[in-house]
Amino acid sequence: MSKEEEFQKLYEEWRRKTEELIAKFPERKEEFLTSSGIPVELLYLPDQLDQDYVERLGFPGQYPFTRGIHPTMYRARQWTMRQYAGFGSAEETNKRFHYLLQQGQTGLSVAFDLPTQIGYDSDDPMARGEVGKVGVAIDSLEDMETLLAGIPLDKVSTSMTINAPASILLAMYIAVAEKQGVPSQKLSGTIQNDILKEYIARGTYIFPPQPSMRLITDIFAYCAEHVPKWNTISISGYHIREAGATAVQELAFMMANAISYVEAALEAGLDIDQFAPRLAFFFNAHNHFFEEIAKFRAGRRIWAKLMKERFGAKKEKSWQLRFHTQTGGSTLTAQQPDNNIVRVTIQALSAVLGGTQSLHTNSRDEALALPTEESARIALRTQQIIAYESGVGDTVDPLGGSYYVEALTDKIEEEVYRYLEKIEQLGGAVKAIEQGYVQREIHKAAYEAQQRVESGEDIIVGLNKFQIDDEPQPEILRVDPKLGEKQKEKLNRLRANRNAAKVEQTLTRLREGARGTENLMPLILDAVRAYATIGEICNVLRQEFGEYQG
Ligand code: 3HC
Repeated sequence: MSKEEEFQKLYEEWRRKTEELIAKFPERKEEFLTSSGIPVELLYLPDQLDQDYVERLGFPGQYPFTRGIHPTMYRARQWTMRQYAGFGSAEETNKRFHYLLQQGQTGLSVAFDLPTQIGYDSDDPMARGEVGKVGVAIDSLEDMETLLAGIPLDKVSTSMTINAPASILLAMYIAVAEKQGVPSQKLSGTIQNDILKEYIARGTYIFPPQPSMRLITDIFAYCAEHVPKWNTISISGYHIREAGATAVQELAFMMANAISYVEAALEAGLDIDQFAPRLAFFFNAHNHFFEEIAKFRAGRRIWAKLMKERFGAKKEKSWQLRFHTQTGGSTLTAQQPDNNIVRVTIQALSAVLGGTQSLHTNSRDEALALPTEESARIALRTQQIIAYESGVGDTVDPLGGSYYVEALTDKIEEEVYRYLEKIEQLGGAVKAIEQGYVQREIHKAAYEAQQRVESGEDIIVGLNKFQIDDEPQPEILRVDPKLGEKQKEKLNRLRANRNAAKVEQTLTRLREGARGTENLMPLILDAVRAYATIGEICNVLRQEFGEYQG
């Protein structure tokens, strides 16, 4: 079959599949026109065939998905506008959630405080000074019920940025849904649950790699059976990039981690087409506009090939790279904070032109503090303006075929494969991390980038050029310093009112489970339902698994 015939055959297949999908899942407008009334086609194709269009690009919604994972992408459904939010008490964060949903946000994203993220109760000495500071303080199911009050969990999808204690927060979410009468089968959302990048970059780990991987694959298995619409992991490049990695390293190291998770799940006896469709990803978007777009497109092609060719996955959904993007926190400046609105716009645009499924846009003041309500609203408006006024979502993969973007996509792909080969030689991601290889590569890139800023080679507007003196300090969000005390009183009341014997019985059962090989999710769920606290549950697991010494 000639290239032209193959192209024509795939085109017909794509056309048919698209028409069927549109019949079921209509496009959001009758017709898409520019401001001059020029019709905007669903997809633009080369009028003469590049030598390997089919193999390198293909059609949206078809392997290798370079041009997008769905045939109609944003013509049918805009990306989810999912602003990361959480601070202070569950009451305060619940208020911010309702505010953002009223302002048009279409998905929730929970930021937890550090004590929650590393498994300490708010009254633990380790939590002093951090309660409610970088996210919401959650100690028990009681706090979770407050956090989610008035939010219909059968309608809203929720992302939770939680890693080491991910199974506990997922159990709390399921338990809150039960109280709303929502069965776990109906829940949709994501837990980050990506421990490897915590060892590399973010640092909110608790247990050593092996027990951590066990908890992760327990979640894969439990959700496949009981929470089928739940994305069980959000394999993150975001924090790796924030630690100073380049775009290539971001993609390469998250792919290496992803390979380790797939191998761990296969070793645990799971079926690839059972868990793979619910693996999700989380990217950063920094300032080099075209590099970011090319990174996302290369990522789809790499993941599709890894899953189909290396792991032999058969389901199309197993091959699709579905991802959330957050604009680059570390690119924000404390100087002239309003300039950050422009940076975030460019970064958000690169994520949309790169085909993201979900997007968080940073607020202008986040180099100074957690966002005020006004800053969070402007950040949400930024992506709403891109969605509803710019027209960039009216055709699929608009930059496909650009000589620059395709060349950059190919180059990034080539560099990523080079890193993957190197990591394979070191024995895979876990070993490469244990040897410090990944961390050294990132630190080197971070140091070189910082040198370019210090020397003025890289210009950061307002920081090392176009500065202004004594600029006014903007109003920033302040977290209640007495929150730790209030959480402590809440915990005392909880411990006095709950059924202590029941709590003890569930924690003892959990300890037995941790010593064996059974899936720990059901045992954690029972402990959570009995109002055992996150600290009590994590302390049992600390005693059984030990703690990772980074
Ligand atoms: N055609 C057909 N179907 C379509 C479609 C189209 N054009 N567009 C969407 N759909 C379908 C999807 O297939 C999906 O159906 P399914 O549930 O049956 O698969 C449904 O519509 C919803 O679409 P998505 O799943 O694409 O959108 P979601 O928003 O629900 O999920 C995700 C996106 C990336 C898969 C998910 O994992 C997610 O929401 N991730 C968010 C992670 C996140 O917010 N992380 C924040 C971390 S903050 C942090 O760590 C930084 C801090 O540390 C500083």
